[in-house]
Amino acid sequence: MRATHADADAARAANLLTGARRLVVFTGAGMSQESGVPTFRDAQTGLWASFNPEELATPEAFRRHPARVFGWYLWRARLVRTVEPHAGYAALVHLSADLESCVVVTQNVDGLHQRAGSSDVIELHGRLDAFRCFDRGHPFDASRLATLGSLPEGDVDPPPCPTCGSPIRPGVVWFGEMLPADAVARANDAVTQCDALLVVGTSGLVYPAAELPWLALDRGAKLIEVNPTPTPFSSRAHVSWRATAATALPALAQALEQRANPQLQP
Ligand code: APR
Repeated sequence: MRATHADADAARAANLLTGARRLVVFTGAGMSQESGVPTFRDAQTGLWASFNPEELATPEAFRRHPARVFGWYLWRARLVRTVEPHAGYAALVHLSADLESCVVVTQNVDGLHQRAGSSDVIELHGRLDAFRCFDRGHPFDASRLATLGSLPEGDVDPPPCPTCGSPIRPGVVWFGEMLPADAVARANDAVTQCDALLVVGTSGLVYPAAELPWLALDRGAKLIEVNPTPTPFSSRAHVSWRATAATALPALAQALEQRANPQLQP
């Protein structure tokens, strides 16, 4: 069989990961793209190509137009419930089995890593289905939104908090808000201690999350990037793999397995 570019990239990435004991996988919206969840900044298809983040993803926007913002997030929450994690998610679970630790640090709010079986997941930007009240942060059980699965697109008035009456908001981190401190601390710890960082499907433009790959590099970790387009990390990555998540991650898991079990060579 003829070796392809993809085989060569998989082999180089597997080479770097051979011997690594502590892996951190840092993911962004591109990880979920092939499951049918749109990214934010891809031209044409990214959410921010059709929607204005300042009108939807800030506390001020929610104060000004609560029904517009709540309706938009319910639409996204409903979309995420209809999709399935692709083969790249399962590959991450698979390759984590041979490691001392494999921590997934994600900017995604869709819960797909957990649905695929990843057990150590740090969510930096919250969760679409973790509703809470705007003023006091009282948690709100998503099952109270009985029609979540069938809501039409469009404005939806947020229900009042049963405890204090404040409007219910999605449990995501909006622009201008702090990231959850415990998640940031755990992510920093994991990145500081890892041997290798696998960065998948993020533009690397949104801070403070985008600090993590730079921190890993400063600490001497190996950096592997999977992304069809270059990012600020590409020139510093030890392997910059121009491929999509659903293609590259299964190929990587397979290459690692073949290294561990040479008798499996095709
Ligand atoms: N596989 C891998 N990468 C992909 C794929 C794919 N199938 N499709 C697109 N990508 C890449 C794009 O090339 C881009 O670099 O995924 C990246 C997506 O970038 P963004 O849309 O900016 O998403 P992300 O980096 O996660 O954004 C960070 O911004 O708006 C906020 O809170 C939101 O968490 C989000 C944050």
